[in-house]
Amino acid sequence: MAILEVKNLKKSFDNQEILKGISFEMEKGQTLSILGSSGSGKTTLLRCLNFLETPDAGTISVNGNLLFDGAVGHEKGVDLREKRLHFGMVFQQFNLFPQYTALENVTLAPKLEANGKSDEEIMELGKELLVKMGLEDRMNNYPHQLSGGQQQRVAIARALALKPDILCFDEPTSALDPELTGEVLKVIKELADQHTTMIIVTHEIGFARDVSDEIIFMDNGVIADKGTPSQLIDNPSNERTRQFLANYLK
Ligand SMILES: Nc1ncnc2c1ncn2[C@@H]1O[C@H](COP(=O)(O)OP(=O)(O)OP(=O)(O)O)[C@@H](O)[C@H]1O
Ligand SMILES: [Mg+2]
Repeated sequence: MAILEVKNLKKSFDNQEILKGISFEMEKGQTLSILGSSGSGKTTLLRCLNFLETPDAGTISVNGNLLFDGAVGHEKGVDLREKRLHFGMVFQQFNLFPQYTALENVTLAPKLEANGKSDEEIMELGKELLVKMGLEDRMNNYPHQLSGGQQQRVAIARALALKPDILCFDEPTSALDPELTGEVLKVIKELADQHTTMIIVTHEIGFARDVSDEIIFMDNGVIADKGTPSQLIDNPSNERTRQFLANYLK
């Protein structure tokens, strides 16, 4: 069974349709990248999956459970927060809490969650995740004491701490200097190798080719093309995909 099934998702802003019926599925343990030109709707799609936006139509199911049905909308009284926990989100701009250390940023949400874990267990998990991100000597630093690449790795640890079914990234390296990009891509690649289920919106086409099981190409609110990296990047048959890649390589 697909871990995620999205059917005919639609979203308009100001009477302009930005997502025009997006449908796709992904399997557990897979990495799906989303490419597409600026304004094609990539961030809007991720925000709909995380319920930061409410879609106008369509359905979203995780592990066969219908989380959202546009015909019904969000049912009153149902905790959106709980639904959001299926998805972890890593943003372009890190969005760490400036007043908390790296470790506190990672442990804050799990401590607030009724997950039956003691604070000690949560601290251990937080430390483990920061070690995994190569930040063992930075746990007690505040965000302003960390480089952009380090802050982004804290943000990834923070998202993982809630054990989401699907970890989503929105251009995780585009706010970083090129020399810091590599260290963040490296940890994302390691997560992919460990079969973390991920959706990655990126402009790093070479990275998407290396890390993805499947790639979606979005154009003007629709999925214009979809395939393995070899189909979509190395041997694109779709004219719009070819144009996009040609512009990128210019
Ligand atoms: N809250 C909003 N209100 C009005 N319009 C919006 C809103 N959010 C996004 N849009 C519009 O939706 C379109 C798609 O935006 P989106 O951010 O999803 O694109 P994107 O593919 O992520 O682009 P980029 O590669 O530049 O990040 C844009 O035209 C944008 O202006
Ligand atoms: Mg975007």
